[in-house]
Amino acid sequence: MSLPQPSERAFVPFVSVAAMMKLIHQVGLDRMLRDLADYIEDDFRRWPLFDKTPRVASHSTDGVIELMPTSDGALYSFKYVNGHPKNMRDGLQTVTAFGLLADVATGYPMLLSEMTLLTALRTAAMSAMAARHLAPQDATTMAMIGNGAQSEFQCLAFRAICGIHTVRLYDVDPAATAKAMANLRDQGLTLIPCKTPEEAMEGAQIVTTCTADKQFATILTDNMIGSGIHINAIGGDCPGKTELHRDILLRSDIFVEFPPQTRVEGEIQQLDDDHPVTELWQVIAGTAPGRTAPAQITLFDSVGFAIEDFSALRYIRDRLEETGLYQQLDLLADPDDPRDLFGMLQRARP
Ligand SMILES: NC(=O)c1ccc[n+]([C@@H]2O[C@H](COP(=O)([O-])OP(=O)(O)OC[C@H]3O[C@@H](n4cnc5c(N)ncnc54)[C@H](O)[C@@H]3O)[C@@H](O)[C@H]2O)c1
Repeated sequence: MSLPQPSERAFVPFVSVAAMMKLIHQVGLDRMLRDLADYIEDDFRRWPLFDKTPRVASHSTDGVIELMPTSDGALYSFKYVNGHPKNMRDGLQTVTAFGLLADVATGYPMLLSEMTLLTALRTAAMSAMAARHLAPQDATTMAMIGNGAQSEFQCLAFRAICGIHTVRLYDVDPAATAKAMANLRDQGLTLIPCKTPEEAMEGAQIVTTCTADKQFATILTDNMIGSGIHINAIGGDCPGKTELHRDILLRSDIFVEFPPQTRVEGEIQQLDDDHPVTELWQVIAGTAPGRTAPAQITLFDSVGFAIEDFSALRYIRDRLEETGLYQQLDLLADPDDPRDLFGMLQRARP
């Protein structure tokens, strides 16, 4: 007896790691970073429409596992993501992720996707999009502190979106800097390896901190930050996991994604709960100022918010038809008679 075949609605497009890599190469990394920045910016512009909640975090001594849900009323998404700084020593990724996009009207999933690569792209696109609003307009040089898995994506997004052409790289582990230098060769960037974070800061108008440590860390001290700098701080994204000395925060105009999440996870966990911050979406919507003076120190206190993943999944969904880079997963039990789930099981008996 042949098994009953799943109905069309039971299949969910699945984008594997292999398919995602093909998709990125087919679209082109630069175009994809720019497109993702535009998708995120569009969604930030309609921010009030979204369901927003701080991500649900499950902490352990080794790291964190988080769920990041949101919805705009038509589409729903969530991402599963971990952060385990000690993983690298065991030959594992610090951050891995996958995510799902669903139709709010039926609750049926529409897309399941790998999101480890997609998170690296969306984080870089988000950082560069924020810098488009906050960094000095004539910025050409970025200090890149922390040269791990995210770092090349950050450098390339700042080149593609903000016109950065020189990157000064520093990592406590010189092997990480050597890896990033090799990966970024022939990408149209001037690359300068540095022996100290202070050296990396020389002549930079933008600094990205992208390190991974579970303890309160001080990657940048106050004396390293001159006037007019834009700080893109992405590695401080968990309670107890920060990168900047508190004094830098007190001298900066601080821009955040979603304050209820950032006050717990971001650099501003070091400040009083009512310390003034600006929500980045308001800058994008034109209701709050971004950079207003050349001497101003701007800080994007990035932790990563669910809407950025929603935008990234929406972008992948929009590319599925033209690329065909997915496989159909038999993910949902969907009997012809919706009330006959048991009958469907019975008919499948060998
Ligand atoms: N804000 C966001 O949206 C977002 C998104 C993804 C990842 N992250 C965070 O970004 C960070 C980096 O992620 P990754 O995947 O690149 O991690 P990774 O482990 O691959 O790389 C981290 C690098 O930081 C270096 N490092 C550690 N301490 C340092 C120090 N004091 N000075 C200079 N370098 C130092 C390590 O040697 C390593 O090369 C993590 O903390 C992660 O949680 C944030």
